[in-house]
Amino acid sequence: MRIGVLTSGGDCPGLNAVIRSVVHRAVTEHGDTVIGIEDGFLGLVEGRARPLGLDAVTGILTRGGTILGSARVARERMRDAVGRAGELASALGIDALITIGGEGTLTAARLFSEAGLPVVAVPKTIDNDIDATDVTFGHDTAVWVATEAIDRLKTTAESHQRVMVLELMGRHTGWITLHAGMAGGAHGILIPERPFDVEAVCCMVEERFSRGKKFAIVAVAEGAQPAPGTMRFQHGGTDAFGHQTFGGIGPRLAGEIAQWLNKESKPVILGHVQRGGTPTAQDRVLATRFGWHAVEAVHAGAFGHMTALRGTTIRLAPIAEAVAHLKTVPESRWTEAEAVL
Ligand code: F6P
Repeated sequence: MRIGVLTSGGDCPGLNAVIRSVVHRAVTEHGDTVIGIEDGFLGLVEGRARPLGLDAVTGILTRGGTILGSARVARERMRDAVGRAGELASALGIDALITIGGEGTLTAARLFSEAGLPVVAVPKTIDNDIDATDVTFGHDTAVWVATEAIDRLKTTAESHQRVMVLELMGRHTGWITLHAGMAGGAHGILIPERPFDVEAVCCMVEERFSRGKKFAIVAVAEGAQPAPGTMRFQHGGTDAFGHQTFGGIGPRLAGEIAQWLNKESKPVILGHVQRGGTPTAQDRVLATRFGWHAVEAVHAGAFGHMTALRGTTIRLAPIAEAVAHLKTVPESRWTEAEAVL
């Protein structure tokens, strides 16, 4: 069999571990040929691809990013590509396609699958917001990086009796902020699922300092929103691909805290550092398992499905189910975090 593989959307630690695993399983167990499609769906549309043998994936397990590259494709061009799905697959000579990507990629994978292209998807995102899987690879690495940032900010904040506001990724969901905030022992955790009141944040900081504590750390997700009727703040517009843009809540909040409390308050935006670099052991293991199961799904003819972690077992879930809702932080998980703030 000839299996195409592509990585699409924002990159994420662990993508190369999936590619490596797909190649090993497909080539060694099934005698397949794996075709690496360059720059995501753009490579599919433009017919840019190269064969991936065992040699091509040597040494990539620990590497961040993706050896295949990734790119965004404008909606119109994607619609056109879906209409030509069969033609594009024959141009590359592939019998099946494994897509590795987040919500946008899963939506595209579903459309290609419905258009008759045999597709199996592997979900990825540092945000951990894909429903139908307990967790996605990349999230553990991002949480680790964000936790280390909190640990480091604590020592400098304490030396200068400052408030540090750390803005973390998460446009619609607060998983990274929740988990890093818990692991790093942040004093405030602000997530998109729970609009916040700046006055309550300032009271928390003031109360800490009144107890003789010398610093405070507030972790805020980039998509966190002030509650209606409190601080006025507008998130950005939309990018060239129609996605809502975020950013700026951290600096704005740090400014408000400084003003309300007359206390030094500094913003830190961790940004793409959360997505770069080598994956944690946990992410490497999950990515490797997903790759193995994606190849098995192709051979079982389970097209239109994606790999998913349920408990400790990898299962297959319909892609349609995965893109039906975003997995947001439920109240029960917030309550556990709140207890240690
Ligand atoms: O989807 C993952 C994510 O890391 C978001 O949390 C973040 O807002 C976004 O990607 C930024 O991606 P890019 O800068 O590549 O558009």
